[in-house]
Amino acid sequence: MNNAQDRKINLDTKQLDQTLINELDTYIASLDDKVGNLIHVLHKGQSLFGYLPENLQLYIARTLDLPAAKVNGVVSFYSYFTQEPRGKHTISVCMGTACFVKGSDKIRNKLKADLKIETGKMTDDGQFSLIDIRCVGACGLAPVVLVDDKVYGHVTVDNIGEIINKYREENHDGN
Ligand code: FES
Repeated sequence: MNNAQDRKINLDTKQLDQTLINELDTYIASLDDKVGNLIHVLHKGQSLFGYLPENLQLYIARTLDLPAAKVNGVVSFYSYFTQEPRGKHTISVCMGTACFVKGSDKIRNKLKADLKIETGKMTDDGQFSLIDIRCVGACGLAPVVLVDDKVYGHVTVDNIGEIINKYREENHDGN
């Protein structure tokens, strides 16, 4: 265990929901190769808690007897994992090459301005999160934006507002 890394994070793992921690512990205990299953453990942690805050990463590192930096390195590397709470809807802007050359950065800027958040953050009302993603394999539709799992292609600065409004209306309807 790397104590220096633990001190850097220095958060109280007792703040974590103990019922969810017990469920995570049961899952970890069921694994033969705990360290080799780090990614599965992180998936389980994110599905239970909704995201992977630093104190949860630290808890996982201690439980698997891994350096906290290694766990954080894996969480940071995969865009699937999030260290921030996610809104009801996740808006993912593809920043892969094909989408970038077709102006996905302008779409991202428009979303940031409309939602009043930076990339990686959640709106104050908890309805939307905005993230960047790498190529999703739909380059022929560039530029591409995903809302949750739904792919929108040939998105423009002019029609992105309309797409997002559909989800806003759903939210207002309580769906
Ligand atoms: S670069 Fe965006 S889908 Fe491939």
